[in-house]
Amino acid sequence: MRLWSLLWLLGCRAAAWWSDDYSLDDAVGLGRQLDGIGAISGGGATSRLLVNYPEPYRSQILDYLFKPNFGASLQLLKVEIGGDAQTTDGTEPSHMHYENDENYFRGYEWWLMKEAKKRNPSIKLIGLPWAFPGWIGRGMSWPYAYPDVTAYYIISWIIGAKKYHDLDIDYIGIWNERPFNSTYIKVLRKTLDRVGLNTLGIIAADGTWNIANHMLVDPYLYDAVEIVGAHYPGTETVKAAQLTLKKLWSSEDYSTFNNEVGSGCWARILNQNYVNGNMTATLAWNLVASYYEELPFGRCGLMTAQEPWSGHYSVNSPIWVTAHTTQFTQPGWYYLKVDGHLKKGGSFVALTDGLGNLTVIIETMTRNHSKCIRPPLPPYVVSPQKAVFHLKGSFSKLKSLQMWYSKLDFSTANSTLFQSLGPKNISEGILALNLGLDEIYTLTTLTTGHKGSSSEPPPSQPFPSIYKDDFNIRNPPFSEAPYFADQTGVFEYFINASDPGDHVFTLRQVVTQRPVTWALDATNTISIIGNYKWINFIITCDIYIESNKGGAFIAGRISKGGIYVPSAQGIFFWVFPDGTYRVTRDLAGVDILMKGLSGVRANRWHTLTLILKGSNISGMLNGYPLWENITTHSPENGWAAIGTHSFELTQFDNFHVEAS
Ligand SMILES: *[C@@H]1O[C@H](CO)[C@@H](O)[C@H](O)[C@H]1NC(C)=O
Ligand SMILES: *[C@@H]1O[C@H](CO)[C@@H](O)[C@H](O)[C@H]1NC(C)=O
Ligand SMILES: *[C@@H]1O[C@H](CO)[C@@H](O)[C@H](O)[C@H]1NC(C)=O
Ligand SMILES: *[C@@H]1O[C@H](CO)[C@@H](O)[C@H](O)[C@H]1NC(C)=O
Ligand SMILES: *[C@@H]1O[C@H](CO)[C@@H](O)[C@H](O)[C@H]1NC(C)=O
Ligand SMILES: *[C@@H]1O[C@H](CO)[C@@H](O)[C@H](O)[C@H]1NC(C)=O
Ligand SMILES: *[C@@H]1O[C@H](CO)[C@@H](O)[C@H](O)[C@H]1NC(C)=O
Ligand SMILES: *[C@@H]1O[C@H](CO)[C@@H](O)[C@H](O)[C@H]1NC(C)=O
Ligand SMILES: *[C@@H]1O[C@H](CO)[C@@H](O)[C@H](O)[C@H]1NC(C)=O
Repeated sequence: MRLWSLLWLLGCRAAAWWSDDYSLDDAVGLGRQLDGIGAISGGGATSRLLVNYPEPYRSQILDYLFKPNFGASLQLLKVEIGGDAQTTDGTEPSHMHYENDENYFRGYEWWLMKEAKKRNPSIKLIGLPWAFPGWIGRGMSWPYAYPDVTAYYIISWIIGAKKYHDLDIDYIGIWNERPFNSTYIKVLRKTLDRVGLNTLGIIAADGTWNIANHMLVDPYLYDAVEIVGAHYPGTETVKAAQLTLKKLWSSEDYSTFNNEVGSGCWARILNQNYVNGNMTATLAWNLVASYYEELPFGRCGLMTAQEPWSGHYSVNSPIWVTAHTTQFTQPGWYYLKVDGHLKKGGSFVALTDGLGNLTVIIETMTRNHSKCIRPPLPPYVVSPQKAVFHLKGSFSKLKSLQMWYSKLDFSTANSTLFQSLGPKNISEGILALNLGLDEIYTLTTLTTGHKGSSSEPPPSQPFPSIYKDDFNIRNPPFSEAPYFADQTGVFEYFINASDPGDHVFTLRQVVTQRPVTWALDATNTISIIGNYKWINFIITCDIYIESNKGGAFIAGRISKGGIYVPSAQGIFFWVFPDGTYRVTRDLAGVDILMKGLSGVRANRWHTLTLILKGSNISGMLNGYPLWENITTHSPENGWAAIGTHSFELTQFDNFHVEAS
């Protein structure tokens, strides 16, 4: 008798030890509302190559990102408000290059927002500046000297979005990962209210949580800020942020190479930003890796579309990780009040629309398989486990839930991604699951989930070895020429109606003052194009320097770009309107290989040719050799480029490159 009771007792304990129990109950009150899962285009120029994809591939890529019940089905889209300056992988143009200038058709973010809205009219839009055009700073690299001017500049962008593109911006930010200024935030709020944009919310300050301390002691600042947004929070918030009782967002996160580890990172933070940090939105930098891969943070996007010349793209696993949440929730759904830590590691969140629908998302990412680029991930252990969920309240009568499953595979790269396992029966309100490692489960009442697919994209191809552009055929509505990726300055299509004929349509560098920068832009402007592996080049381009203070170059073997552009090396052939030329091995122009007289003048067209053949390099002006037989072994390879010596207007025409 005693033995039996002992065994019975042991049995019970064993059962309790084996299966960990969790309660899903909406009768105990609901937690915070989900604001959404989204991604960032820009910061900087991360969608640059996407716009040049031929159809149908461009639409297919957009479908994977935005179309509901198809792929990532994103709920939020944040775009850069271009500031004419380098913001990681390139520059994006401002809607106001100069104080008296306004144009709401530059760049590709307007187009992208419209494509997103076309697919999902309820996607929320966020604008954030990384940099500002120089006139905002009036000589200082600081945007807050005249808070009303900066507020006017930002609100012009919001009003322009509505007026020219019928886009309603939902949220606006301050200055990405840079100091905020309380006076400016209050002026911005007041001005928004004055022009009737009362419902548009301010997110601040897109850096650390520090602004929360200021909000707690400054009631006007407190009222001005709707959302406290921090970057790369490592799934944790701080006490001050919690005390504000404001919505807390991870307003930039992820930034990790989009392989299986990147997917593990994304799966872990999508759940744990709420479980550990009460954050109700997470935004990935970046939306789609559509920039030359050798630029900084290559392929740190939810998917990859970096070959518009071939049409090739890849739907990487983070797209399907996103779908686990986004296809089965909507902004406005409530998190259930649960401690979402699984007893043997991993996490879950449960959400309801308050109308009886339930979605549970479970992840069991192991540490080595889910490290994000930042911050460091403290050690923890996850083990296989049996989890038993007890459905209570409105959910007690549910008979089944749709089950979606992913398992990241790290040995054969043969992951199972967003697979429908059909309905999972629930008996007596009990849902029992055997959880393995590196898995994601979604269990949901919604039957609308769908793993979208398109015809196989074309195979990958290198950039064409012969490429030319006379800038006569344009790609409306875009202001930039295909494949040129500006790294300092802004190169735009230009029309000179009074030109007699040869140079009516050109490409023009238009930034005439150093911007209020975000990174260390070069002191000269540069736009890169081509294949980073190129060694041998023949580059020809017509140039028209518009100022006596100017200077222009063509170049090959450009070694770097993005935030590292000031130290770019390459072979640069410069001409100046004082009638001189120079050949340098660096963009800074100090490592001089050759210099002499060229006879070049401002306000005249000249044709430059640069020939790089192994270690023998030479240059021609207007078809005649100007310098030849210079020997240099470095740098070895890189992109082609055009650019200017300073922030001055300069035009380019009939660009032609032949390279290998
Ligand atoms: C914020 O900007 C205003 C206006 O330029 C300036 O007076 C104030 O000192 C700034 N505050 C901080 C903390 O930088
Ligand atoms: C934040 O999350 C913790 C842990 O889930 C919870 O105890 C706390 O109530 C939450 N705080 C707020 C303000 O939502
Ligand atoms: C769940 O969501 C669907 C779709 O939004 C809706 O039609 C339905 O009424 C909701 N409630 C339940 C209990 O399914
Ligand atoms: C995680 O990676 C570290 C460093 O590579 C290694 O020492 C450790 O054994 C790994 N842990 C597991 C559980 O694989
Ligand atoms: C990949 O996984 C599938 C399904 O689990 C299996 O049938 C296939 O053999 C696996 N392939 C490799 C290369 O492991
Ligand atoms: C789930 O429930 C349905 C309806 O009661 C039943 O037909 C089906 O066999 C059950 N499936 C499993 C796997 O138990
Ligand atoms: C436009 O073309 C005319 C005629 O060639 C020339 O005088 C003028 O400088 C050009 N303007 C610009 C901005 O290039
Ligand atoms: C460059 O080298 C070629 C071939 O050796 C030679 O014909 C030519 O004269 C050289 N040019 C100069 C300027 O030295
Ligand atoms: C170097 O290249 C130039 C231009 O292609 C060519 O004319 C010259 O002969 C080459 N010099 C040598 C030494 O090969």
